[in-house]
Amino acid sequence: MSNKIDELNEKTRKAKEGGGKKRIEKQHEKGKLTARERIKFLLDEGSFEEMGMLVTHRSTNFGLEKQKFYGDGVVTGYGTINGRSVYVFSQDFTVMGGSLAESHAEKIVKIMDLSMKNGVPVIGLNDSGGARIQEGVVSLGGYADIFYRNTLASGVVPQLSAIMGPCAGGAVYSPALTDFITMVENTSYMFVTGPNVVKTVTHEEVTSEELGGASAHSTKSGVTHFTAPNEIAALDQIKKLLSYIPQNCEEPAPSLPYEVQDEKRPKLNDIVPDNPNQPYDIREVITGVADTDTFFEVHKDYAENIVVGFARIGGRSIGIVANQPAVLAGVLDIESSKKGARFVRFCDAFNIPLLVFEDVPGFLPGTDQEWNAIITNGAKLLYAFSEATVPRITVITRKAYGGAYDVMNSKHIGADMNYAWPTAEIAVMGAKGAAEIIFRNEIKNAADPEAKLKEKEAEYAELFANPYNAAQRGYVDEVIVPENTREKLIKAFKMLENKADNLPKKKHGNIPL
Ligand code: HXC
Repeated sequence: MSNKIDELNEKTRKAKEGGGKKRIEKQHEKGKLTARERIKFLLDEGSFEEMGMLVTHRSTNFGLEKQKFYGDGVVTGYGTINGRSVYVFSQDFTVMGGSLAESHAEKIVKIMDLSMKNGVPVIGLNDSGGARIQEGVVSLGGYADIFYRNTLASGVVPQLSAIMGPCAGGAVYSPALTDFITMVENTSYMFVTGPNVVKTVTHEEVTSEELGGASAHSTKSGVTHFTAPNEIAALDQIKKLLSYIPQNCEEPAPSLPYEVQDEKRPKLNDIVPDNPNQPYDIREVITGVADTDTFFEVHKDYAENIVVGFARIGGRSIGIVANQPAVLAGVLDIESSKKGARFVRFCDAFNIPLLVFEDVPGFLPGTDQEWNAIITNGAKLLYAFSEATVPRITVITRKAYGGAYDVMNSKHIGADMNYAWPTAEIAVMGAKGAAEIIFRNEIKNAADPEAKLKEKEAEYAELFANPYNAAQRGYVDEVIVPENTREKLIKAFKMLENKADNLPKKKHGNIPL
């Protein structure tokens, strides 16, 4: 017996060595952790149970039979994060560059299938040179098996990806199909075709970092939702993110115990400037309303004219979508509409109530926006809110103009509670633009057209640059003093906690993609 146990121990030791000491040293020299070190940090101490540790590949192409490593370049299994079950796969770059082949893919597929059957989130730590070139089409098949499951699991269990090394070619599509991506700055990149191919095809000279590093994807493409200065910070982000989201689509969003206290926040009264054209940072409103230090921003550096993220309010996990008057006056454009829509759909899929802060002058005009389909893209946000069945509350802090009023979680598209601050202006457009159109002739024929314009502008503003017209019609449920917002929201989310709403029976909708 002891011989047999020694044999097992030897195999286990070998498996844990991955690609060997030299390659592990190389990994560390690059400032990267190994696949197992990452798992150790991510999961609760001692909770990891590995599956498929002794799996090897079956290929004999190009002498591969002489290069067998236990685990085949990926560590898979399950464990807990703050006591909650998760499945995890962690690609091992020290084994053939973490390249994905038949057996490697089968291991990932196995935990994905288990995750769906058990309603448990899946976390993927990606560090791979892509399809294992020697294995050819079976590698591509392996990827497709994963993509297929990513899609089936979408909206069933949360899927979180960290990019901790190369992620190139079609391999990028698995993370892209997951709910959230975090990238480690300077040591990770994602692209469909790398710098060499780019140079051949488009003659552009670009580095991997410029083309697909964390900075490019957090600011320009929006592919990544988070970036982190190092791997530990990226893993911490995943743990934090998980704390706001449930295990699966059947569970309510996490809620921490909370005792109601004095919820007045007088500072909220002083955030919106007297001059309606002066910007302010909507994050001050968000942090002023949310439980202390709970706001966790998503897509922070992308489409900054809209702010999205998770927070807690009275202990409850909620998703926040807020126009940002400090950037482009909070206007809605293509990127911000897409950013908002994606976040709203995630929250709705996983039962996370939505809170909207609205201060929006409208949609951004211009040929660039029109020719790049602001119509289709703006419709995404409209669609996402309209089909969301989670509790939905809106607070209009200032401007709610034009189509943007409808889109930003208005009563008409299914919001449950709509509040406005006394500074709210709810109208088809700004007073000056409105006066110029509807009083054009009167202004043109006046002895002093400029004075006439001012007079008509004031008339329009008097009628519409306030929340009371909307309140009279019930489009706004209550006009509230800003300092009372937190208290109102705690009560309203409590009132909505058992909300049950269903969409009409259908196979699936057809969001304007
Ligand atoms: C097999 C691979 C590999 C791969 C790396 N290795 N990528 N083996 N298939 N795709 C091996 C290397 O041979 C090397 O083995 C070890 O991993 C480490 O690689 P290095 O090149 O030494 O590391 P580094 O200098 O850090 O460069 C990393 C890299 C580079 C940039 C990822 O290895 C690279 O360009 N690899 C090829 C990437 C690629 O073209 N992949 C296919 C993409 S297409 P030894 O034994 O020397 O340690 C694709 C299609 C997917 O993925 C489609 C899905 C739909």
